[in-house]
Amino acid sequence: MAERDNDWTKPFIAAMHRNAAERTPLVVQAVGTGPAERLLDVGGGSAAYSIAFAKANEKLHATVLDLPPVLPLAQGHINAAGLAGRVETRAGDLRRDPLGKGFTLVLVSAICHMLSPEENQDLLRRCFEALAPQGRVVIQDFILEPDKTAPRHAALFAVNMLVGTEAGSTYSHEEYSAWMRGAGFEEVRHLRLPGPSGLMMGRRP
Ligand SMILES: C[S@@+](CC[C@H](N)C(=O)[O-])C[C@H]1O[C@@H](n2cnc3c(N)ncnc32)[C@H](O)[C@@H]1O
Repeated sequence: MAERDNDWTKPFIAAMHRNAAERTPLVVQAVGTGPAERLLDVGGGSAAYSIAFAKANEKLHATVLDLPPVLPLAQGHINAAGLAGRVETRAGDLRRDPLGKGFTLVLVSAICHMLSPEENQDLLRRCFEALAPQGRVVIQDFILEPDKTAPRHAALFAVNMLVGTEAGSTYSHEEYSAWMRGAGFEEVRHLRLPGPSGLMMGRRP
């Protein structure tokens, strides 16, 4: 994505925003929010999820981490929602940069499928480091059954990633669980949601 120009990035982020509009109520309800939440939205795109969490909890502050060309698009949505005081944007490379410290919630939505297993393990270790004790990581993605042939859309999306990315794919609940436990997370669980994607959640002890 870092090599794409604005003619590609703008419609892509607009499409993700449209898609997120349907998913945010489900995700916010399933995840819930604590009293003084600090949310890190890794590869947060249009900021749709940060905005939805901030609307659900007036004490929540969010940071949307994404590539520089995407941040003005996110900022436009944040401003339109009147949330510039509580939702900020930060330029960063989720493939290698430290993610910060002291967050209570780290959201990784529609990111893991573009990364290899090794990159996902590395990202999850950095998510763990970014969380305060008792903080939670939430992954939203297509999650495969153990034999990796179902659900059908998740299996087909792996073909899309095979063609369109260097090492992306879709992964099973078992793979996510192993990576999350390997990074140090406890209370790892798979939450099925209506629609094409599900959640993997874990807690830093
Ligand atoms: C499929 S979109 C998901 C957006 C949002 N999380 C959502 O669920 O609607 C992937 C996002 O990851 C961002 N991204 C891709 N590579 C990145 C990188 N190396 N560092 C930071 N962000 C990246 C893209 O710009 C895009 O906003």
